[in-house]
Amino acid sequence: MQNLIDGRAIAQQIHAETAQRVAVLKARGVTPGLVFIRVGEDPASQVYVGMKEKKSAELGLHSVTRVLPEMTTQAELLALIDRFNADPQWHGILVQAPLPKHMDQATVYAHVAPTKDVDGFHPLNVGKLMLGDPSGFVSCTPGGVHELLIRYQVPLAGAEVVVLGRGNIVGKPMASILMQKGRHANSTVTVVHSATRDVQAHCLRADVIIAAMGVPEFVRANMVKPGAVVIDVGVNRVADPTAKSGTRLVGDVAFAEVQPKAGLITPNPGGVGPMTIAMLLANTARAAEMATGSARR
Ligand code: GUN
Repeated sequence: MQNLIDGRAIAQQIHAETAQRVAVLKARGVTPGLVFIRVGEDPASQVYVGMKEKKSAELGLHSVTRVLPEMTTQAELLALIDRFNADPQWHGILVQAPLPKHMDQATVYAHVAPTKDVDGFHPLNVGKLMLGDPSGFVSCTPGGVHELLIRYQVPLAGAEVVVLGRGNIVGKPMASILMQKGRHANSTVTVVHSATRDVQAHCLRADVIIAAMGVPEFVRANMVKPGAVVIDVGVNRVADPTAKSGTRLVGDVAFAEVQPKAGLITPNPGGVGPMTIAMLLANTARAAEMATGSARR
């Protein structure tokens, strides 16, 4: 069926744009530098950071990865962030989540210099997004979903959008992006969460459903208006005795039954996932442009 949103293809377009910006920076003697910090040995984080490193190198960025042991103190992590904050060769700093339980994620993210916060997690950048100030960094996954909607020319002005999930990384910034006054936004956004009374009624009204609550295959065909655009942000590991590893990854959308009803839908994998890295590297190019006086939006 021809209703798939090809996240890999759009991510590729954005990577090509970023590579161009990196080339312009390099011609001016600036190599965008990106730091990855990982704490402990979370297997998914190892894979994610590995993918981000590989793509950075492909686009010509300079990156370094620091892996700290699980028992690192928060003070030690903050001291490391301080050193990268102060060093002008590094334009972006990414501290991979999840952090060990003895650390306070909010404190750590607030410690990254806002101008190097290419993850868009610092409270200043979250605040700028809320205020509609374009000078900040937008969190990569909701930023990537927004790019998919824009590049597939999904009408957003006045559209009913339901965001499922109110997390700080996806749900809240996603709602904030789409409710802003301005081009490529202006939607009527409903945020559905665990205390919402009639989830199905809200979803059935939606022209666009963005599922980011982390419940395997939560969105079923009977929750989707015919022709609606369905974006699946979920990455859930579920038991699967038929798989070699005993598990498999599923999204927040029951894809097989929802696809025939949707106007457009993201496959999963191959939908939102590739966009997160694309936005991260685009943000890093912009951080380098801003730091060296050649910023564009
Ligand atoms: N863990 C899962 N997604 C992300 C992300 O976008 N950024 C960081 N830093 N950690 C994550």
